[in-house]
Formats: sequence, structure tokens, C-alpha cells
Amino acid sequence: MSGSDLLFEHVADYPGDPILTLNEVFREDTRPHKVNLGVGVYLDDTGQLPLMAAVREAERRILGRAAPKPYLPMSGNAEYRLAVQALIFGPESDVVRQGRVATIQTVGGSGALRLGGDFLKVAYPESDVWVSDPTWDNHRGLLGGCGFRIRAYPYYDELTGGFDAERMLAILDKMPAQSIVLLHACCHNPTGVDPTDEQWSAIVEVLARRRLIPFVDMAYQGFGRGLHEDARLLEILTDKGVSFLVANSFSKNLSLYGERCGALSVVCADAAQAKRVLGQLQAAVRRNYSSPPAHGALIVAEVLCDAALRQEWIAELGSMRERITAMRTGLRHALEALRPDDDFAFITRQRGMFSYTGLNATQVNKLKNDSAIYLLRSGRACMTGLIPSNLQRVAKAMADVFPAPSLQTY
Ligand code: LMR
Repeated sequence: MSGSDLLFEHVADYPGDPILTLNEVFREDTRPHKVNLGVGVYLDDTGQLPLMAAVREAERRILGRAAPKPYLPMSGNAEYRLAVQALIFGPESDVVRQGRVATIQTVGGSGALRLGGDFLKVAYPESDVWVSDPTWDNHRGLLGGCGFRIRAYPYYDELTGGFDAERMLAILDKMPAQSIVLLHACCHNPTGVDPTDEQWSAIVEVLARRRLIPFVDMAYQGFGRGLHEDARLLEILTDKGVSFLVANSFSKNLSLYGERCGALSVVCADAAQAKRVLGQLQAAVRRNYSSPPAHGALIVAEVLCDAALRQEWIAELGSMRERITAMRTGLRHALEALRPDDDFAFITRQRGMFSYTGLNATQVNKLKNDSAIYLLRSGRACMTGLIPSNLQRVAKAMADVFPAPSLQTY
């Protein structure tokens, strides 16, 4: 080989992503009865990715206006940013009214996490990032990629299939001040296990007392209890006067995956701080990709700022939530019928798209190879891949590969 042939000789193989690469393998699987319980994407009860009615109408209006396409400002579309603030903090929010929130449009929720990480690495270079055990696989990649050491706090209790509040609070209470604590606002990914409002209050009390830095990931607003209820952690944090970051996304709740619509908001102590923070966020955007793309933000702003479209969206989101609940109930009952000695109540206690099934990597592999049913290696199953026509078959295949450890009620 010549010198130039050797240029990339040392580049390592990419082992693939536990979620997105699995999705590619699924796409290539030619078995007609295949079921995708892998990637976190909402599918309707025919197994299709929906184009929401409000989004379809918003796009029709936007295309009708056929406007030129200048660069957006570094911070993104101004109307979108205001709509984001009203949605996640509530229309009457004091912190928004007082100008204490710096919000920028980002390339999806992942982009918000990355920009938040870049910002924090400059402001708090010595801090570690603490994520829940377990957490979404890409949290480690995104925030580790900003240069942080990633550590884990206890979260999921394998014995009960529930939230381990006691152990999480004990660790929080020992963290050095200014540690960055990543929290899932709702629909915890991958377990589906969320703290109650009372438990969130207890967590926020420790975060405030120990001067920790909360970084909230809210990718599933509207998929747990409802739009307002799912943002309860934000309300508790602002009521307590805590400064924090929140990354939110419209991939799931507006079914806008490929448009990459997200935002990063930083709640500050006063408007002057928020202005400086916004400047640093703009600088981080410029360093990374200059300015965000336009189209998705136009759709979101059109839906959120038009009363009729917004109502239509909220109703459709409600039906999506109900469909997930129905599939959870269906799976639980089908499994209980097939394995009457096991307790599957955890499936209906969990919220959002994901269920942590307790299946191990060998069992997951067997489901894939023998039944064309795809779950993540961790045992996470995306409930939205279940539809009335595949539910019984999935339940039967799962029942055959269990036993999962028998879960006690909590
Ligand atoms: C998931 O957790 O499956 C989704 O958030 C998609 C992704 O990017 O991993």
C-alpha cells in the first residue's frame, strides 16, 4: 500500500448503535410477520408512522405561502422559541414572563442535549455528569462526547420493577456541588418507570440543597399522563427557584422525527443572566452548525400558535397515548393468561413508549431469530410496535422465552 492508501488504515470498525443499527437490521429483515419493538417511534394501530392531521394542515398552509428561505438566526425561529416556552413551562409561567429563560431551537432533542453539554463544559469544566442507571444509550455518547466523565446514579429497582427513590436520594445527597444530574421528565427511557410528583419534590429538594445542576431531558411530553402533567418536574424546579437546563423534542409528540425539531431552555436567576446564557448558546450553535434548519420549526409554530390546530393536535396526541395504554393492558393480560403464575402488572404501571421487560440478551436474541420480534438487548420493548393484529403472537413468543425474574408488587 502507498502512503495515501494507509491514511485511514488505523480507523476502527464501528460496532453499530444499539438502537439505530438494530432498526436498520429490522428494515432488511424480509420475514413478512416481523415486529419492531426496538426504536422509540410511535406507530398507529396499522403499524404505520402517522402524519398527524394538524401537521398535514400546517404544512399545507406553509407551502401555500411559498416564502423565500433565508438563514435562521443562530438561536432559531423566534415564534417557535416562544411557543416552546409556553408549551413546556405553561402559558402563565413566571420564569418566562420575567425573561429568565434562554431558549434556542435545536436539531432535535439530541442536538439540545449536545449543545447543553457544550455549554456546561465551558461553564463547569470540572463537573461530572450523572445519568440514571439505566438510561437512554445515547446520553453517554452525547454528553461523554462533550468531554464529561459520565457516572450513574441508582434509579431502577430490579426486584420491584419500580423506582428506587431511597437509593437515588442517598447518592444525590453525596454528590459534589455543581455535579450535573440528568433527569428524564417523564416516560423514562428505557424503563418506563417515573417518580411520582411527591418523589420529584423530594429529589428537587436535594438538588437545590446540594447545589447540583439539573439537566432535564423531556423527549416524550404528552405520552405519559398528559402535556401538562408530564412537565410537572419543570414546575417543581421553577417553584423551588432552581436554575436548570431542559432539552425538549417534537420528534415523538408531533411525529416529526426527520424534521429534527427540538429546543434547549436554560432557566436562570434573572433576565441579565438569561441574556448572557443565550449569547453563549448562540456561540455554541455557531461553532457546531451555524444556524438550525427552518421547515420543521415552521410546522411546530403553526400548530402550537393556531388555536384550532393546537386543539386537533392535543386530541390526536391523547388518542396516541390511549392506544399505548390499550396495548400495555392487552400485553399484560395476554401474558398473564399464558403464564398465570407470573406477575406482569409492571407493564401497566410503566408509562410512555417503553417497557423494561426483564428479558435478557439471550432471550431477546431468540425472539429476533425465531419469531422476527425485535427488542433492544437490554430487554426494552417499544410498546408502539404492538398492534391488535400482532399482540397475541408477540405475547405467545415472549411467554415462551420468559421466565423473567418474578417481580414483586410495589
Ligand atoms: C429511542 O430511544 O429509541 C429513540 O429515542 C430513538 C433514538 O434516537 O434512540
